[in-house]
Amino acid sequence: MKITNKMPKPNPDPKTPAADSRRLLRWYRRHARDLPWRRTDDPYAIWISEIMLQQTTVEAVIPYFERWLRTLPDVQTLAAAPQDQVMKLWEGLGYYSRAVSLHKAAKVVVDERGGVFPVGEDAWRELPGIGPYTAAALGCIVDGQRVPAIDALVRRLLYRYLGLTGEGNSKANEAAMREYGARLLAKSAPGDSLQAMMDVATAICRPKAPQCRVCPLAEGCAARAAGDPGRLPPKKKIALVPIDVAVGLWIRDDKVYMQRRGEGGLFAGLWELPGGKVEPGETPAEAVVREFAEEVGCRVTVAKYLPIVKHSYTKFKVTLHPFVLTGRGRAPRDDERGFVALSEVHRLPQPKANAKIWRNFLAPTKETS
Ligand code: ADE
Repeated sequence: MKITNKMPKPNPDPKTPAADSRRLLRWYRRHARDLPWRRTDDPYAIWISEIMLQQTTVEAVIPYFERWLRTLPDVQTLAAAPQDQVMKLWEGLGYYSRAVSLHKAAKVVVDERGGVFPVGEDAWRELPGIGPYTAAALGCIVDGQRVPAIDALVRRLLYRYLGLTGEGNSKANEAAMREYGARLLAKSAPGDSLQAMMDVATAICRPKAPQCRVCPLAEGCAARAAGDPGRLPPKKKIALVPIDVAVGLWIRDDKVYMQRRGEGGLFAGLWELPGGKVEPGETPAEAVVREFAEEVGCRVTVAKYLPIVKHSYTKFKVTLHPFVLTGRGRAPRDDERGFVALSEVHRLPQPKANAKIWRNFLAPTKETS
């Protein structure tokens, strides 16, 4: 990428990127976190880790990653696995469309590319589920390209190091970070340098109290030179959007009606209780009756109120109003929906908050949140 006139020049232009790059790599040799995906150079394992690490912390990913590789050790086994097995292995990690895309991409690699992974950032982009960040991470870590993958942590570090101004993730700042940040990636080991940046960003270049005294990048860091790196980048406050959702447990002969969500969007591929958003002017009980008429095509009646469940996701907080229902009519039944034995429900991959509903239904206690 060329530096354009619009791109903010680092201020001050770092004078020591080569020396800082060496210090960064030396620091990594001594202090790198020992993470399971760093003990391998298998593109499959590293690809799985990078997809899991999108929007999810390292600590949360480790057990999922290890279990995944024990169960589906290579791209061929993943491509051949049933979707429910893939979703079950992902259950609890969130952002389920990642798992749907991972499965699809494995089939592309096996069926269309003879089991061979793409090489280089641009080629990785062609696989389903791989956006600019992950393509750069894989290009850098797997293929040794000098391209910094800029997630929220590395963005904070580079914003400070380069002395940028304005919104951290503006287009101009992203371009400057990509251009100038690449200088910190050692030619001999770009992937290690990138992962060093991630570790420094996590352990040292912290949001509020950066530990500049022990930072390998301190020498060339513009924000440190300016005096108050902990205040950068300026914060934007994001309020969680509250939503009320009514869901129904339509029970018949010790079975419950469930349906699988379509591809794309929130909770893609997971099984859910039918229901939906409570519209303005509607009670939750009215909403569940309406949703069943619209989604399932059946008339239901509320038989029992279950305790309300509250659950927060990244961008919104849901208040779930679950109801036990009785109903009339023939509900659609196929691979994607139907009555499931209550004793088998726990086997279906479902959004996290459902666990609270099932706990309350199967072993009632008091309200959960
Ligand atoms: N986040 C994304 N990729 C990572 C990696 N390879 N190591 C640690 N954290 C990460």
